Amino acid sequence: MVKNIAVIRGDGIGPEIVNEAIKVLNRVAELYGHTFNYTEVYMGGCAIDKFGDPLPASELEKCVSSDSVLLGAVGGNKWNDVPGNMRPEKGLLRLRSGMGVYSNNRPAKIWKQLAEASPLKRSIVDNGIDFIIVRELIGGIYFGEHKTENGIATDVLKYSEAEIERIGRIGFETARKRNKRLCSVEKSNVLDSSRLWKKVMHRLAEEYPEIELSDMLVDNCAMQIVKDPSQFDVIVTENMFGDILSDEASMITGSIGMIPSSSLGASSCGLYEPIHGSAPDIAGKDIANPIGTILSAAMMLRFSFDMPDEADSIENAVSAYLDAGCRTSDIMSEGCRLVGCKECGDLIVEFLNKE
Ligand code: IPM
Ligand code: MG
Repeated sequence: MVKNIAVIRGDGIGPEIVNEAIKVLNRVAELYGHTFNYTEVYMGGCAIDKFGDPLPASELEKCVSSDSVLLGAVGGNKWNDVPGNMRPEKGLLRLRSGMGVYSNNRPAKIWKQLAEASPLKRSIVDNGIDFIIVRELIGGIYFGEHKTENGIATDVLKYSEAEIERIGRIGFETARKRNKRLCSVEKSNVLDSSRLWKKVMHRLAEEYPEIELSDMLVDNCAMQIVKDPSQFDVIVTENMFGDILSDEASMITGSIGMIPSSSLGASSCGLYEPIHGSAPDIAGKDIANPIGTILSAAMMLRFSFDMPDEADSIENAVSAYLDAGCRTSDIMSEGCRLVGCKECGDLIVEFLNKE
């Protein structure tokens, strides 16, 4: 198959980690006889430097007209003083919104090889950590009106029933393919938008009788994720709660550097990115963990290109790499071999085999 991939290296460690993911994709193409064409796209701080705009319309167009987008990370202190609507992050938000990718899927799964890297007690880890956060990605407070006037700052949190329903359905469908338990997370004891969220989820539940729906307040959920993560199968939640909970959930699996994500909307053209940021403090040092990006590329093959064997081969290569005791510094533990970002990519390429 021939696929056109828009590649956004971005800022900070973005270029390094994306390079490793591309090495892996090129090896997959060789093994399976595919052709992946890459189109370079500028977004974030590097686009501000180049075009004076974190996502010019021409760059968004390249993404929308591709078969999918692979993204590293954007942002950094260098652009801290630019106005809010011109920040690197604004480019990312415009990209998500412009692509219409409302459903962000963030797995929190512990690799058996990394049980020691989790900050949780072994007794908790051994009960298993394997859940998915389905995060609404193009609504809520991120996209409401933002303004500061006369010393008063306002950010509007708004959701329509239709927006809640479309992400709710993804939650139910995701649970249907897994262990059939869906936890809807909100703050309905305080927020109107959350009361509407809860109402819509329960209305949808009638269409999915085989799914066990539960409700949880977001503050309690933050606690339950560290107290007993094994209770979760699929969590569905709004944009900002999903942002916060997914960082928490990633850490209990050992490192935020390991976690990929997919973002999809109505078409098969998805956005694939690790959930971590651009980590400017370690940029250019060849110490970043590229696995979150490599696994994001695997998700692209699975969810957008319908290449499940190819996706499995990447995930198995990552597992073989961990079995071999190789670790970047974020997941380093005693008795393992410390490797850099490039070597990590090279080793995963070596471990790649056709399924
Ligand atoms: C994420 C990031 C982004 C978000 C930032 C960089 C805008 O934290 O993907 O989780 O808040 O969505
Ligand atoms: Mg985040």
